[in-house]
Amino acid sequence: MTDNLEEVKKKALNCTKCALAETRKNVVFGEGSLDARLMLIGEGPGATEDETGRPFVGPAGQLLDKMLKAIGLARNEVYIANIVKCRPPGNADPKPEYAAQCIGYLREQVRFVHPKIIVLLGRIAVQNLLKEQSGIGRIHGKVYERKGFIFIPTYHPSALLRNPELKRAAWEDFKIIRRLLEEFYAE
Ligand code: URA
Repeated sequence: MTDNLEEVKKKALNCTKCALAETRKNVVFGEGSLDARLMLIGEGPGATEDETGRPFVGPAGQLLDKMLKAIGLARNEVYIANIVKCRPPGNADPKPEYAAQCIGYLREQVRFVHPKIIVLLGRIAVQNLLKEQSGIGRIHGKVYERKGFIFIPTYHPSALLRNPELKRAAWEDFKIIRRLLEEFYAE
C-alpha cells in the first residue's frame, strides 16, 4: 500500500505485469475527482482511450457523459476507471489473469477516492467486483452493499450504443443512482 494515488499511478504507467503491456499505446489509469461521491468502473480501454490515455473518451464515453449530465453530474465531479488499464487488442474481453494482475490498482483507486456509490458498467466489472455470475439483464439497477460501499450494476454504454432499446432500462438505473445520491447527501 502506498500513501498517495500519484505513486500508484506512476507504478501503473510503468506496469509490465501482463501481456497487454506489449501492445498498449498508453496506460489508461483513470481520472476524476478524488472527492467523488460516485465512481464508475468499466472493463478496459478501447481504441480512443488507448490513443489518448484517458478513460471513456470514445463514443461510449460520450454517451456516458450525457447520462451523467442527465442526473446533474459533470464528468469532473465523478471518478472513472476500468478493471484493466491497458487495451485488450481487438477489444476482446480482458482475460481473467490480466484482470487479476491489474485489480490492485483499482483497489487503491477505490481506497483513495472512497466514493459512496460505485457504478459497475457491464458484465466484466460485475464479475470482477461482485463475484456475481448473473447476467447484467437480471441484476442491473439492483443495489448491493459490500464492504461499506454501494455497488449498482448497469449496462455498459457500448451495449447501449449497440442496442438502443436498452437505453430506457439504463435510464431507470441512473434515476436510482440520482435518488440514492440525493438521499445520502440531503442537507
Ligand atoms: N469501454 C470501457 O470499458 N472503458 C473505457 O475506458 C472505454 C470503453
